[in-house]
Amino acid sequence: MQSSQLSRIEILKQPTSFRWVEQAISNLDTILLDHAQCERKAAGVALNLIFRYPSNAKMVRELTKIAREELEHFEQVNQWLERRNIPMRPLTPPPYGAGLKAQIRPQQSDRFLDSLLVSGLIEARSHERLGLLATYCPEPELAKFYQSLMMSEARHFGTYWLLADTYFERQIVKQRLDELAVVESQLLANLHPEPRIHS
Ligand SMILES: [Fe+2]
Ligand SMILES: [Fe+2]
Repeated sequence: MQSSQLSRIEILKQPTSFRWVEQAISNLDTILLDHAQCERKAAGVALNLIFRYPSNAKMVRELTKIAREELEHFEQVNQWLERRNIPMRPLTPPPYGAGLKAQIRPQQSDRFLDSLLVSGLIEARSHERLGLLATYCPEPELAKFYQSLMMSEARHFGTYWLLADTYFERQIVKQRLDELAVVESQLLANLHPEPRIHS
């Protein structure tokens, strides 16, 4: 199963292990809580790029749409939390996000390219994992919810890729994406002990 999932998400170097699926399915409430934080962060990342690069009109237009969609997802996940009586509380993040952020090079144009590609990779991984939750979640209604979200995340990867391809040469984008994708998979190679979307 995992390899067929991977073939549909070509950018990821390694597919998610079944151990992650088992960990997530046994901790659905924590996964929902973490998922809410992921959606909030995804909206924040899009907004930050808009603040940082306000003159890139195409980027501003596309990321405005993404920020709005991510906030809608945040709202929808929060409704699931309420429905299941899960109180909102902060969770310690897994090392994944910080590990990827550390790959962003400081110089201005490198920083812009890396920011777009790191965001894109996180979207691609979210797409894969929400798809796994949609397949394996034993609660049909919740599974349907994950199904409804996973396609947006794939589209978001496409937008970040397109933006990178708009502002940088394709060969440079491809090469850097390849390097970052290796790190992305390495960061997930050992399952984080706490259940998280990106554990
Ligand atoms: Fe989302
Ligand atoms: Fe997204």
